[in-house]
Amino acid sequence: MKRIALACAASLAVAGIALAGSASAQSSGGDAARGKSVYARCAACHDLNTGATRLGPSLKGVMGRTSGTMPSFNYSPALKSKAIVWDASSLDQFLAAPATMVPGNRMAFPPMTNAQDRADLIAFLAQSAR
Ligand code: HEC
Repeated sequence: MKRIALACAASLAVAGIALAGSASAQSSGGDAARGKSVYARCAACHDLNTGATRLGPSLKGVMGRTSGTMPSFNYSPALKSKAIVWDASSLDQFLAAPATMVPGNRMAFPPMTNAQDRADLIAFLAQSAR
């Protein structure tokens, strides 16, 4: 009987560790692997790694970058003059409502209303847009 109780306690502890692990992955900003497939919506317009301009500016090094500063891209005055520092929180706000955060910007992309999609995408960008 004692042995069964111990085994139970041990498996509960393992489950607890697994839960804690997934909770911290969530709070650090979403699932980058899933975010990769969300990024397919951006890829036609945004390069990730080479610095190349497509319809939009490259997102190479976007985390920590100031808005409107890729030299090879002709930005709207709106995005340039905002001088937003892109991080998880400002990207989340921009993707949720581009025209509200930066009125007059030229990114032809609808608001991304799904918060999980945004979190996963941002986790992917933090990992991959270098
Ligand atoms: C149809 C093309 C298009 C799509 C699709 C698109 N964008 Fe953009 N994006 C642009 C353009 C054009 C700009 C520059 C807007 C301006 O100058 O006002 C821009 C600007 C940005 C900026 C600001 C970059 C900087 O250097 O300040 C970010 C960040 C961004 N887009 C992220 C995304 C993400 C993430 C997605 C996918 C969810 C996405 N965009 C989808 C065209 C697009």
